[in-house]
Amino acid sequence: MAKNVGIVAIDIYFPPTCVQQEALEAHDGASKGKYTIGLGQDCMAFCTEVEDVISMSLTVVSSLLEKYGIDPKQIGRLEVGSETVIDKSKSIKTFLMQLFETCGNSDIEGVDSSNACYGGTAALFNCVNWVESNSWDGRYGLVVCTDSAVYAEGPARPTGGAAAIALLIGPDAPIAFESKLRGSHMAHAYDFYKPNLASEYPVVDGKLSQTCYLMAVDACYKHFCQKYEKFEKQQFSVADADYFVFHSPYNKLVQKSFARLLFNDFLKDASSIDETSKEKLAPFANLTGDESYQSRDLEKASQQVAKPFYDAKVQPTTLIPKQVGNMYTASLYAAFISLVHNKHSSLAGQRAVLFSYGSGLTATMFSLKFNEGKSPFSLSNIATVMSVDKKLKSRHEFAPEKFVETMHLMEKRYGAKDFVTSKDCSLLAPGTYYLTEVDTMYRRFYAKKDKDGAIENGMVANGH
Ligand code: ACO
Repeated sequence: MAKNVGIVAIDIYFPPTCVQQEALEAHDGASKGKYTIGLGQDCMAFCTEVEDVISMSLTVVSSLLEKYGIDPKQIGRLEVGSETVIDKSKSIKTFLMQLFETCGNSDIEGVDSSNACYGGTAALFNCVNWVESNSWDGRYGLVVCTDSAVYAEGPARPTGGAAAIALLIGPDAPIAFESKLRGSHMAHAYDFYKPNLASEYPVVDGKLSQTCYLMAVDACYKHFCQKYEKFEKQQFSVADADYFVFHSPYNKLVQKSFARLLFNDFLKDASSIDETSKEKLAPFANLTGDESYQSRDLEKASQQVAKPFYDAKVQPTTLIPKQVGNMYTASLYAAFISLVHNKHSSLAGQRAVLFSYGSGLTATMFSLKFNEGKSPFSLSNIATVMSVDKKLKSRHEFAPEKFVETMHLMEKRYGAKDFVTSKDCSLLAPGTYYLTEVDTMYRRFYAKKDKDGAIENGMVANGH
């Protein structure tokens, strides 16, 4: 049986087009600091009319295979997590098959998983379980998380973002699953959902979604701790993991979520809570669950207690989510990539606990362990290949007015047929796929900007 199954290689793509939160705040007439300090966000990426979740996934998958020299025949399972509906029947995975058909590999299991921001985690678990199972044929699994997170004008709009992430799954991984350490919480809630199939925008009950998220953090942490205690025969507290990585709709919620873990540790008298912290949290010891979610004083006190832990164990995970925004299914893994980017040289032997949340609702907390890894799958090479700094620095900032104009065009294009795009790929990096046309039968066609910046036609323009 395969050992140390987990993430062998990673790549990330986000659109080169973005809007600064400070500028958006002023444009929207929000009070100064609401998006930057209140939500904790710096910048937000978005797709223009030449990009979508399919083009972003084509870009990230071809980039990962190319950079690691992986023969497409070596992929035996491909799973996509996304909540961006392009077609109610045909999966995004089938579009990606175009990258494998050219080399004669059609023997690839897997389809799409969807439940809000959780689909990527479902896809990841499917791939890991496959490699650990009797059905495994010795080839790699590949997980793709891809979303364009856009909201209607209003308070939710600054919590958008866009990205696609590819995770190569196999045995002897530098980032291995501690498969037994998983705690889930799943329930029925109408906090965020997409019942209007004519619109890309969700219906969102913002306040309810915040409470559902925090309740899921608590429930998953309890189940996770119980599993740890069952298998490791000792209590778990935040001191037992080096890093905590959260699904990140916006940074403020991550700060509040991590503080809840410390409050949970306090309630069970865990070793992570020293005497001073105990005194600070003592007034809240007898609150009911509901009261504890409403109490601003508790929020303040637990964030104070959590601060030094947050700086060491969470802050290194926040770079890309703050810069790119909520990427729905890709959001948690963008936070994880930020950690690898920032700390790759010191991660060997350490543990990261991840929290995945999808509205509606589904949530899981799970654990990963790092080791150096062997070339080309060493942690330092993974960090180099992703070139996060370069990708962030080479972006083009749009004025808020131009961002809003783009959103209006995207509203018209969503679900539409019989149009050609501008095919303007001047802002895209070489190697990026882009949408060229949707024909009268809603069939979508893509091209790739080649390495010299010229257009490479035909490869994914099936039948054209
Ligand atoms: N300076 C500093 N802070 C400010 C300022 C200011 N000028 N103005 C407001 N704030 C603070 C507020 O006090 C608040 O902080 P708090 O959360 O600590 O109270 C924060 O900024 C946000 O302000 P609110 O008035 O609460 O924001 P609003 O209700 O308008 O919108 C929300 C926030 C609900 C998150 C909205 O953006 C939304 O609906 N987003 C989509 C849903 C979402 O992301 N949910 C999270 C989980 S589900 C998922 O992943 C999709």
